[in-house]
Amino acid sequence: MKELNKILVNNSATIKEAMRVIDRGAIKTAIVVDKSNKLCGMVTDGDIRRGILRGIGIDEKVSEVMNKNPVYANVNSTKDDILNIIKKKKSVLNLPLVDENKVVKDFVVVSKGTEISYFNKGLIVKNHIKKILVIGGAGYIGSVLVRKLLNKGYEVNVLDNFTYGKKSLEGIKLNPKLKIIEGDTRHISYVSEALQDVDAVVHLAEIVGDPACALDTRKTQEINYLATRTIALMCKHFQINRMVYASSCSVYGASKGNELLNEESELNPVSLYAKMKIASENALTEMMDENFRPTTLRLSTVFGFSHRPRFDLVVNLLTAKALKENKITIFGGDQWRPNVHVADVADTIISVLEAPIDAVGGKTFNVGTEENNYTINKIGELIKEAVPSANVVIEDKDVDKRDYKVDFSRIRKTLGIKMRMSVSDGIKEIKEAFEKNPDLDYTKRRYSNIKFLEKNHLK
Ligand SMILES: NC(=O)c1ccc[n+]([C@@H]2O[C@H](COP(=O)([O-])OP(=O)(O)OC[C@H]3O[C@@H](n4cnc5c(N)ncnc54)[C@H](O)[C@@H]3O)[C@@H](O)[C@H]2O)c1
Repeated sequence: MKELNKILVNNSATIKEAMRVIDRGAIKTAIVVDKSNKLCGMVTDGDIRRGILRGIGIDEKVSEVMNKNPVYANVNSTKDDILNIIKKKKSVLNLPLVDENKVVKDFVVVSKGTEISYFNKGLIVKNHIKKILVIGGAGYIGSVLVRKLLNKGYEVNVLDNFTYGKKSLEGIKLNPKLKIIEGDTRHISYVSEALQDVDAVVHLAEIVGDPACALDTRKTQEINYLATRTIALMCKHFQINRMVYASSCSVYGASKGNELLNEESELNPVSLYAKMKIASENALTEMMDENFRPTTLRLSTVFGFSHRPRFDLVVNLLTAKALKENKITIFGGDQWRPNVHVADVADTIISVLEAPIDAVGGKTFNVGTEENNYTINKIGELIKEAVPSANVVIEDKDVDKRDYKVDFSRIRKTLGIKMRMSVSDGIKEIKEAFEKNPDLDYTKRRYSNIKFLEKNHLK
């Protein structure tokens, strides 16, 4: 009964309180009962979101949106009795079990047509998330993440304005579980359409990188702060309480000293890009309440191959230069930088989506691994090992001031995950990609955000 209490909600509760129970109960449903635990109704997250769309406020009573005549069965019903009920009511896949006074005693979920799991016998539903919106799903990280989510059986909405084209979604665009919405995050009607029926949102759609953000500072603020803030507000409004926001370790900027920086360390942004990340992180924190629990992931600099390759990221770019020009130039070189493979980022995002909301919601995590903290000089050495013919030249001009060595213990302890790919693995991967495709021209504009946006102004 103690377990069952996790999915019961009193009939005097508000819609917001019922949603809190649903978000934590992992069965997309709450059972509404009176003071003596007598069945009054059932409510799902879908009922709540449809209610909100009809104009019902989340502080109104749960009875405004609940199903007042739910299907139920007697607690002494046999498995066959339950399956017969389910067969007759085609859309019903779970139901409460009640005693002769209609007091709720248990809850069953029927899966694969005939398998019945009882809540009181330890029914474990790992996660109730079915449909995820990936904003920026056509990007470098997004195009890897979307494929992984589809492979895991999730339904996925992608909202993207396809700044860098549509090629990255070739091969999956006809997948029936994928819905693509072409639109800009600065237009709330597109965001609103993309949010319908989703259980969680991953927000990756911003202008990425210091130089790209410096090109048009007004549009950078529109996209990287104002639109992000609005997306969070809309998630909160529609009670989509799981949101993953891709921030960056760039927020640590030019750190002083040589210590490992954790999520509580001082922030020292050296670019508009980093300042907007901090502004968006703060906006999410301000919006947080008992229900809306966004997760901020401060990503290390990403490397590795993707369906939208990027050759403006340090490991990818220097490896490509070593292979194609036999020369790499490093500016400065003593700056520390954390690095993470794009597939590890995608896997981390999925782990966050699948974790209990209380473990990850409302929290900030650095994403990466200490083993991939390297100085740029060391990255040069690793590339030289893989491409011995390349000359490494160090210059003192145009030094990127970012310098930070990062601690990743929080994400490791919370999710128990391990980053699989080292920087050397990433260098090898890029080398193999060039061997397979010798005509790959890494200098093409579409592989670099800054080069692309310099030429094709932001919309
Ligand atoms: N790649 C990295 O090294 C790195 C490191 C730290 C943080 N991040 C963060 O991760 C996120 C994703 O980065 P990425 O490397 O995949 O970048 P990306 O530039 O490859 O992808 C961004 C995607 O968002 C879309 N987009 C941009 N503005 C949009 C708008 N206004 N409306 C709709 N769609 C829009 C683009 O078309 C693109 O498909 C970003 O928020 C970035 O700041 C990336």
